[in-house]
Amino acid sequence: MLISFGPRAYIVPAPVLLVGTYDAQGKPNVMTAAWGGLCCSQPPCLSVSLRRVTWTCQSLLQRKAFTVSIPGRTMVGKADFAGLVSGRQEDKFQTLGLTPQPGDHVDAPFVAECPVVLELLLRHTLELGSHIQFVGEIMDVKVSRDCLTPEGLPDPSLIDALSFVPLTKEYYGTGEFVARSFAVGKTVKRSS
Ligand SMILES: Cc1cc2nc3c(=O)[nH]c(=O)nc-3n(C[C@H](O)[C@H](O)[C@H](O)COP(=O)(O)O)c2cc1C
Repeated sequence: MLISFGPRAYIVPAPVLLVGTYDAQGKPNVMTAAWGGLCCSQPPCLSVSLRRVTWTCQSLLQRKAFTVSIPGRTMVGKADFAGLVSGRQEDKFQTLGLTPQPGDHVDAPFVAECPVVLELLLRHTLELGSHIQFVGEIMDVKVSRDCLTPEGLPDPSLIDALSFVPLTKEYYGTGEFVARSFAVGKTVKRSS
């Protein structure tokens, strides 16, 4: 039996994304966003949804570029802090001892200490209500050399990305390998 929770912004798990921007003065900033994810394969795109009051939202509207850095489990405190404090008042990179590395392809800084980094050019904005959705085209994906398999592919267990759970407001790890996609479904027996 399923219990209804009504119309809520809920999905499980949600990602923990650190959105990097330069503000109008060129100061680097980073904020935590869970409302986001991949939204197109070709061109490769990812969206984040931000409230207008965030410093990041204003910076993104001006600079039209952003990065998304994905923190590992050990960065949970820093990731939470970046979602509690605004760059309008505080230099979060400096406070957290994180490195604002300039993007190679876009006018935005990323968190050099994160195992996965995306660089994005703003392509679309959509006013949704409380949030503006920003769709960015992914110009580059970088993965820490320490988080690659012997074959040179990103290893999720080494990346050890955080995930977020709305409603209960908790961080989780991303779990263990279950099965290969586009493959395990082929073993299912049709019931009719
Ligand atoms: C786990 C977590 C997820 C969050 N997700 C979002 C989000 O998706 N969109 C948003 O506008 N704010 C989100 N926030 C709140 C912002 O990160 C917060 O308002 C932050 O201080 C904004 O920083 P800025 O003013 O430097 O841009 C989240 C906070 C946390 C802790």
